[in-house]
Amino acid sequence: MSFSSDWLALRAPADAAARDWTLARHFAAALSAAPRITDLGAGTGATVRALKPLLPQAKWTLIDGDAGLLALAPAGCTGHQLDLASDLDAALAGADAITCSALLDLCSADWLDWFAAALAARRLPVYAALSFDGRHGWAPAHPDDAVVDRAFLAHQQRDKGFGPSLGAGAWRHFADALKRHGFRVATSASDWVLGPDQPRLLEAMVSGIADAAAEQAPDQTDAVEAWADARRVAIAGQALHLVVGHQDIVALPPA
Ligand SMILES: C[S@@+](CC[C@H](N)C(=O)[O-])C[C@H]1O[C@@H](n2cnc3c(N)ncnc32)[C@H](O)[C@@H]1O
Repeated sequence: MSFSSDWLALRAPADAAARDWTLARHFAAALSAAPRITDLGAGTGATVRALKPLLPQAKWTLIDGDAGLLALAPAGCTGHQLDLASDLDAALAGADAITCSALLDLCSADWLDWFAAALAARRLPVYAALSFDGRHGWAPAHPDDAVVDRAFLAHQQRDKGFGPSLGAGAWRHFADALKRHGFRVATSASDWVLGPDQPRLLEAMVSGIADAAAEQAPDQTDAVEAWADARRVAIAGQALHLVVGHQDIVALPPA
């Protein structure tokens, strides 16, 4: 699945505001002074930018399937183009700790189980931030919010390159798998709270959700289009608010 650098740049401020910084500090405090950290599905390096102040001496390796995104990563990082669906072992090699953000919700149960087992075998701490957890809170409400959301959430479970995706349920599946391996797991909500000051991100959310919902439920295209039009009117009137539920996870291997 491909992501544009424009979309990653658009979402970065919302992600930075949403991260649970207590969990991020908990992760940083568990590492050595100069750890080798590998960020999976790194995109242009949002996790590096976020954690750099907490881990100024870390050596970062960035893994992504898209070399064009890796080319935009902060200076000093090492980038490797790999397909995580097949090359997970190569991706984890040489790391003292693993990070990812906005990745787990693309993944299947089998892949998440493999990931958890691989982390356990190597006793690697992991910080997995900003996984979508299925919650959309629209204000004001629209009568077709539930119809659109149902179709969108079903679309989230399509294969995004890792097998049938767990979508909104992925973060919990991964946390539970790590617990079964004896990891000490902490989770915390890291919701986007969007309002009239973020019209471009709201517009991208409305368009992205409507496109996915219409693809998933072609018989409901008219309702989805009418819903999107109403949402755009509300954005133009500076009246739309949206909470997007996310979850952060920090898991430390058994002592
Ligand atoms: C939603 S973006 C998140 C990017 C970045 N972590 C951030 O928070 O801005 C998901 C990233 O995972 C990468 N990705 C998706 N499937 C992949 C795969 N099979 N192998 C490697 N990278 C993949 C995409 O190229 C994209 O950069």
